[in-house]
Amino acid sequence: MTDLSEKTKGFIFNLDGVIVDTAKYHYIAWRRLADEMGVDFPIEQHEQLRSLSRMESLEKILEWGGLYMTEAEKLHWADVKNNWYQALVANMTPDEVFPGVLSFLDEVRRSGGKTALSSASRNARTVLKSTHLEPYFDVILDGSAARKSKPHPECFLLAATALNMAPSECIVFDDAVLGVQAALNGGFHIIGIGKAEYLPDAERVIPGFADCHLADILDLVYKGASLTMADAE
Ligand code: G6P
Repeated sequence: MTDLSEKTKGFIFNLDGVIVDTAKYHYIAWRRLADEMGVDFPIEQHEQLRSLSRMESLEKILEWGGLYMTEAEKLHWADVKNNWYQALVANMTPDEVFPGVLSFLDEVRRSGGKTALSSASRNARTVLKSTHLEPYFDVILDGSAARKSKPHPECFLLAATALNMAPSECIVFDDAVLGVQAALNGGFHIIGIGKAEYLPDAERVIPGFADCHLADILDLVYKGASLTMADAE
């Protein structure tokens, strides 16, 4: 079993796009709203909403459509979108957890590491319940925990505090530019999830957790290993 280095004991995961693919459900719900408002909203544009809060996402869509809404209208439509989204994620199943995630989380904990889930989504707990992921985390923080949005590091700092660790003792896993910036701003190690070309600031980037072991991640962070997984395209 991997001997966890003295330096790293905390592993902090974003949810959407790292552990499960909820982005597709966010897109279905936002797209339905955009259609109702007559705003063209192709799927590529949804990439720009990654890591934004619900209200920030709505404001972007309004901006793209050149539309204005009062604060009360925005609250109403954000709520409508959220109801559609909740109906979708309530039916998620454990099969939707990305490959390799469960075995990686297991390995971390068997090696004496602690795991935290830190998500900007207020629906994170519903998603964790539907996918039976709750028992895999020592700490769970959803979108109601942090007041400041990424790239402010608050969401990750709160997770480190809950784990009783310094940021430098933790590795953050995030799939979005804003998440990578938040981790760097907080003094965390950061592994990007996805394509390296989209996450140029991440210390290292892996495509996901399939066939990924704890020793690989520690080598990437501390030994500058150039594994093929780090060269995710
Ligand atoms: C994450 C997702 C965003 C989403 C945000 C808020 O950051 O990447 O796409 O808008 O959470 O999610 P919520 O479920 O609270 O509307």
